[in-house]
Amino acid sequence: MVSLEYIAFEHNNAAAELVKLAYDTPPLAFVHSYGCQQNVNDGERIKGVLVDIGYGLCDKPEDADLILFNTCAVREHAEQRVFGNVGALKGLKEKKHGLIIGLCGCMANQKHVVEKLRQSYPYVDLVFGVDGIDTLPQLIAQKLHKHKRVLMEPAQRPVIVENIPIRRESEFRAWLPIMYGCDNFCTYCIVPYVRGREKSRKPGDILAEFKSLVEAGYKEITLLGQNVNSYGKGLEEQVDFSDLLNLLCTVPGDYHIRFMTSHPKDASFKLIDTIAAQPKLCKHLHLPVQCGSDRLLVQMNRHYTVEHYLELIEYARKKVPGITFSSDIIVGFPGETEEDFQKTLELVQKVGYMQLFTFIYSKRTGTKAADMPDPTPRKEKTDRMTRLLKVQDDIAMALVKAQVGQTVRVLVEGYGRNEDTLSGRLDNNLTVEFKADSALMGSYAMVRLTGARATVLLGELSE
Ligand code: SAH
Ligand code: SF4
Ligand code: F3S
Repeated sequence: MVSLEYIAFEHNNAAAELVKLAYDTPPLAFVHSYGCQQNVNDGERIKGVLVDIGYGLCDKPEDADLILFNTCAVREHAEQRVFGNVGALKGLKEKKHGLIIGLCGCMANQKHVVEKLRQSYPYVDLVFGVDGIDTLPQLIAQKLHKHKRVLMEPAQRPVIVENIPIRRESEFRAWLPIMYGCDNFCTYCIVPYVRGREKSRKPGDILAEFKSLVEAGYKEITLLGQNVNSYGKGLEEQVDFSDLLNLLCTVPGDYHIRFMTSHPKDASFKLIDTIAAQPKLCKHLHLPVQCGSDRLLVQMNRHYTVEHYLELIEYARKKVPGITFSSDIIVGFPGETEEDFQKTLELVQKVGYMQLFTFIYSKRTGTKAADMPDPTPRKEKTDRMTRLLKVQDDIAMALVKAQVGQTVRVLVEGYGRNEDTLSGRLDNNLTVEFKADSALMGSYAMVRLTGARATVLLGELSE
């Protein structure tokens, strides 16, 4: 195993100078992130790095001197959208001399994507992968200096770079990665190929970032990793995910912690005991099951059974009263039969998820499942999806209704459907809308739950 190196980001004077020289007024960058929270957080760091070398940020691609798409490769649809959006920029590039168009993130870590960009998208001038954020100043300097395309080949670096500058999108909710990459190789999934092997940040580095967030007034801090329950692998210190949670909870302040994603094969009873013991941890567990058929779970390389999964759920319900669950489900995995699908419906009913994120299987070149026979017609898969969504809707609506009558503490995080309402999130991840002054945004409020509109709770402020 290659040993992991921890390095600190350093400001790049030369790049900052070049940026200054290349433009009459400070240039603007438009960065758009697709995909999961990890990618969104990468996008925030990309913005931080750009600001560090003299870029301003803008919200519209038309205003930008640099347009960067921070991409996701998890499903084919996500990739097609990116190619469509990049294609739509061709006209802008012709009109605006000196405009730099770049693509980074998970798609850029696939050889065939870089090749396609090289061949068919000559107006894309900058490409770098997920491990290249700290090298962005150099790449931009190279582009500005040599006026040539800078297309980096996919590469995985056994390095964790700390202290990368960051421009967060919210002033009260923050993403905090505790690890990068994935070692699990679920047979349908491209993530381990594009994100590389699992790498854990040191607990001290995580704690330092966590403390700075709490001191800056952040209320909701979400710890991120593809499989947070295997946190600590390869670290010198003996520390697991529960230990890390306990350490973070020692930081004084008014905040709460969420985390994702928990893989059922590694989610431990110790983790559940920790949720039960620490009031700062939200009583919600996102525990993606993917499907309810043991036969398919083997095919998916998930390493747990439905029985084990239900044991975890049951233990959590016993130890953490009021805990809610959410999950990801893939419909139409290669070879999924009606019988397999029925088992998924059965499981969904047994667990009673508050939320379900459902996906129709998408073939990813290079993964094991891409070579498995997949005879089920698309129409049958979409039909299964419709049936699953119906079952889930009924479950969620009943669970949401059952919350009515309680008075709960919520973090106010946005506007509701009507202009004079705000929306807040409960500890258990449900959303409530209520009338209140927008000055409450970003703070905690006590709300009495009075009703529900589908799966959104309605309420009123309580003293
Ligand atoms: N690491 C997380 C999830 C990462 S991807 C975990 O293990 O749960 C998020 C979700 O996308 C997955 O949980 C899965 O449900 C879905 N997904 C991944 N690859 C997919 C594919 N090829 N087709 C359809 N859905 C997929
Ligand atoms: Fe993909 Fe599985 Fe890793 Fe999640 S645990 S990122 S689904 S390979
Ligand atoms: Fe997509 Fe990469 Fe996340 S593939 S889901 S952005 S890890």
